[in-house]
Formats: sequence, C-alpha cells, structure tokens
Amino acid sequence: MIRTERLLLRRARLDDVDAFHAIMRDPVAMRFWSTPPHTSLDETRDWVASMVERSAGACNDFVVELDGRAIGKAGCYMLPEIGFILHPDHWGRGYAREAMTAVIAHIFATNDLEKLVADVDPRNRASIGLLTRLGFSETHRARGTWQVGGELCDSVYFALPRPGGE
Ligand SMILES: CC(C)(COP(=O)(O)OP(=O)(O)OC[C@H]1O[C@@H](n2cnc3c(N)ncnc32)[C@H](O)[C@@H]1OP(=O)(O)O)[C@@H](O)C(=O)NCCC(=O)NCCS
Repeated sequence: MIRTERLLLRRARLDDVDAFHAIMRDPVAMRFWSTPPHTSLDETRDWVASMVERSAGACNDFVVELDGRAIGKAGCYMLPEIGFILHPDHWGRGYAREAMTAVIAHIFATNDLEKLVADVDPRNRASIGLLTRLGFSETHRARGTWQVGGELCDSVYFALPRPGGE
C-alpha cells in the first residue's frame, strides 16, 4: 500500500467491481482504451479478477483510491508496460500525475527494470500529456496496431529509463 498526499494506492480487490464498472462502461474514459467500453458487470468482474490475480505477489498495478472510493488504476498489468485510467469526474486535478509518480518510483525500486514503456493512441492527448509530464519520451510509432470495436487504431510508444540508469 502506498499513501500519497491525497490518494491511497492499494492492491485490487474483488469488491472493486462496481467502482471499476462505472469507469469501464464510460465511453469517455474508454475512448482510447484497448477494448470498447464494458457492456456488462461480468466483463468488468473478469477484468478486476485478472488484476487481483496478477497483483497477488509483487504488486505493480494499483487501485487509486480517493476518500475511500476507487477512482481508477495506475501501474503495470504486465511489466514493463504502464497503463492508467481514472473516472472522468476526477480528471484535471493532478491525481493521475500524483498516483503515477508514486507508482513509478515503487516499480523501479522493487523490480530490476531498465525502463518502463507505454503504448498510446496518437489521438490520446491527455495520456500523452501525462506521460510527457512524467518524463517519458516518444520512441517510435506504428500504424494499425489495435482493432478496437470496428476501428483500426495506431500506436505511439513511449519509454522512461530507470532514473540514474542508462
Ligand atoms: C490520462 C488520464 C489518466 C489523466 O488523468 P488526470 O488525473 O486528468 O491527469 P492529471 O490531472 O494528473 O494531469 C497530469 C498531466 O497530464 C497532462 N494532461 C492531463 N489531461 C490533459 C489533456 N486533456 N490534454 C493535454 N494534457 C493533459 C498535463 O500535462 C498534466 O500536467 P499539468 O497539470 O502539469 O498540465 C485520464 O485522462 C484518463 O483516465 N484517460 C482515459 C484513460 C486512458 O486513455 N488511459 C491510457 C491508456 S494507454
């Protein structure tokens, strides 16, 4: 568990399903996600269960909690790729930056990694802004990397080297 100034970052629990469904069913939050918005609670239950399972040992993927309520997630579902999503009600207040700063420090401190990477839709300005603010830089681009719903999407890739490393 990690405490930041305003947030609690903790392991996922199965009872996070309702809070995550409110995020994952939201077309605004999911506009540039790797899947279309969730259409059933079962879909979100599977997603949360998989996060719970993956963070059972060393935890690299955290639920972002504000005042006792899960508002999103920040971390690596699979190392070294970082991902994040917050409920749109909480965008624009620095929560993602606050959470990600702590999560990145934790991941580098507890894993022998040279770098973290991210794969973002080039149209996803908020995520690109966040990554840039966190010190990530663009490494390359590719076209037609994701088929999401009926839409073929592109990727811009980012990397953040281990601080003090090469
Ligand atoms: C990306 C996301 C997590 C940002 O959350 P947030 O809490 O609003 O971000 P913050 O308030 O911490 O902003 C941090 C930085 O991100 C950038 N940023 C955030 N929103 C932005 C926007 N709409 N446009 C451009 N830059 C933006 C800014 O550089 C900002 O730094 P600043 O405050 O110094 O200007 C949020 O928009 C989100 O959940 N998006 C949908 C999920 C998603 O697409 N995830 C990525 C999949 S790879």
